[in-house]
Amino acid sequence: MKRRLTGALLGAVGLASAGIAATIALAAEREPHVNYILRCAGCHGVEAAGAPNAGIPSFPGLVGVFAGDEDGRTYLFHVPGVVGSSLSNAEIAAVMNYVMARWAGDSLPADFVPFTEDEVAARRAIPVASVVDFRRDIVRRLAESGIVAAEYPWP
Ligand code: HEC
Repeated sequence: MKRRLTGALLGAVGLASAGIAATIALAAEREPHVNYILRCAGCHGVEAAGAPNAGIPSFPGLVGVFAGDEDGRTYLFHVPGVVGSSLSNAEIAAVMNYVMARWAGDSLPADFVPFTEDEVAARRAIPVASVVDFRRDIVRRLAESGIVAAEYPWP
């Protein structure tokens, strides 16, 4: 009897610590919409309207243009808010997929391939000297195919 009780008790302790471990894992890796609010919305806004005159592009119906372009996909992981976010590559992939799913709309290519942790790691390792110059070149090239990116004041 005593042994069975101990066993049940140990089982309960095991379950409780599994629960705690799951909670810690959740705390370490937040849901993408929570990360967006905590790490991105301060600049981009809760509805991602941005502040185009202040150099913060608007997302709705526009942000997807970068997801269908090889350099565009690299650009996304070199924007200042992502570089300085202190999020893991897995969290960055998830928050970028969230941004695309929530706001890209028609600008998202039909054959969009969601970002993965490995892709984010690989693209962050590509050196980009000036993100503003990089964006300008991508946007100019996309415009030649009639694809329009968000307004942006920097020359
Ligand atoms: C400190 C303000 C700031 C924060 C915080 C921030 N961003 Fe940005 N973001 C910018 C600016 C400014 C640009 C324009 C690119 C540039 O000037 O380099 C930009 C550009 C972007 C773009 C490309 C849009 C385009 O049209 O070029 C995406 C996508 C993006 N940010 C996503 C995010 C995500 C996701 C987060 C949160 C993890 C985030 N940003 C946090 C300021 C911020």
